[in-house]
Amino acid sequence: MQHVDNDALIPNNVGLADDRRLLRALEHWQPAYLRWWQELGPDGALAHEVYLRTAISVETSGWAHYDFVRMPEYRWGIFLAPAEANRVIPFGRHKGEPVWQDVPGEYRTELRRLIVTQGDTEPASVEQQRHLGATCPSLYDLRNLYQVNVEEGRHLWAMVYLLHAHFGRDGREEAEAMLSRHAGDPDKPRILQAFNEPTTDWLSFFMFTFFQDRDGKYQLAALAESGFDPLARSCRFMLTEEAHHMFVGESGVMRVVQRACEKVDEHKTADIRPYGGIDLDTIQKWINFHYSICLDLFGQEESTNAANYYSMGLKGRFQETRIGDDHVLADAVAHVPALDGERLVEREVTALKAMNETLRSAYVEDSQRGIDRFNKIIRDHGIDVTLRLPHRAFHRNIGAFAGVKATPEGKLISAEEWNRRRGDWLPTEADRAFVSSLMRPVREAGRMADWIAPPKRGIHGKPVEFEYVRFH
Ligand SMILES: [Fe+2]
Ligand SMILES: [Fe+2]
Repeated sequence: MQHVDNDALIPNNVGLADDRRLLRALEHWQPAYLRWWQELGPDGALAHEVYLRTAISVETSGWAHYDFVRMPEYRWGIFLAPAEANRVIPFGRHKGEPVWQDVPGEYRTELRRLIVTQGDTEPASVEQQRHLGATCPSLYDLRNLYQVNVEEGRHLWAMVYLLHAHFGRDGREEAEAMLSRHAGDPDKPRILQAFNEPTTDWLSFFMFTFFQDRDGKYQLAALAESGFDPLARSCRFMLTEEAHHMFVGESGVMRVVQRACEKVDEHKTADIRPYGGIDLDTIQKWINFHYSICLDLFGQEESTNAANYYSMGLKGRFQETRIGDDHVLADAVAHVPALDGERLVEREVTALKAMNETLRSAYVEDSQRGIDRFNKIIRDHGIDVTLRLPHRAFHRNIGAFAGVKATPEGKLISAEEWNRRRGDWLPTEADRAFVSSLMRPVREAGRMADWIAPPKRGIHGKPVEFEYVRFH
């Protein structure tokens, strides 16, 4: 296996020291990255020392090191999961051929687009979350926010490495463009709309890491099957970090739900806002918003691009190698949701063109498993409320349901009814103002904002009361 060089200016296990040209290109990009971090990374956090995990290896037995770090000094490294000996392309028309170590010329454009689209989401999320530090509910949460942020930065590094190493001049230009597009910038927005929405409060942050990072997990898992081996190996290692992001999201929402239930118990009313709690109706609205914008991230239900990515062997399905079919899918069919006039129907399409929908379905199931865990907390408190994922047709901007007016149950309604009722389903200005009013910073070790329950345990064996962030 490739040796890990942790003392280099850019820690890596890709043999950078032996590739002068690539090393120079990345050392040239590094100061631009650091400038971006200082300008658009976590606001006001440059001097904080944060108890962070840093990737130092790709061994499952201990790939991470924990210590206090000032974030601009975080060592963003380039790590690929170990190469699998004799790996072959697992799907598509090249199935069974040896994986590519270099970009196949005929698929260059498609591969670059996939890498750029994935890469663009990484710095976007850091930009979206940059003001949250000012209103952290605890030091534990603040540390988790920063952990997610530095790892999204590392994911950008992972994609920028691929661009620099395999795409020559276009790759260098794309790497620069990653730092010039910005979340929510009207002139140079991020590529995908969900990555332009502001993340203004911590409930949104937990929903973001629950829903949006889960989209990340599914996209990375599909790319981890790629016949382009450096991409597959990059994504496989990124997935180990992604797991923590989803933990932050899921446990974060759970703690908000837990606190809501405690307040309902205590005050004998569902309307716990006067008591400083985030009520379950509000949590449902946040779910409706974040889930629906994340469904859009998977793209059109029927997609020629997605079919091509699969046939070319560039982007597979979730856990491709565990699926029991021929992995070529020349004649296979699938069903995708569609709209027939006023009716929601299913349409038969080729399985290849349904790739986006197949990935989206896996995501929907996975999201539901998380929601079930939230509902268990509510049930355990004897409260008669069930949180739900809204219907696929609800509040969509891409695909068959773009612009369709539907209730969270999937009933089609008129524009007039939508306008009248949308505030029952999606966060209103007043809801956002209320949630924001609770966002007051708690920066004393061991203390927790009143709207959220403490976590079950701390980070890496440290107690919850540990001083995870030291301010200077
Ligand atoms: Fe990421
Ligand atoms: Fe992530």
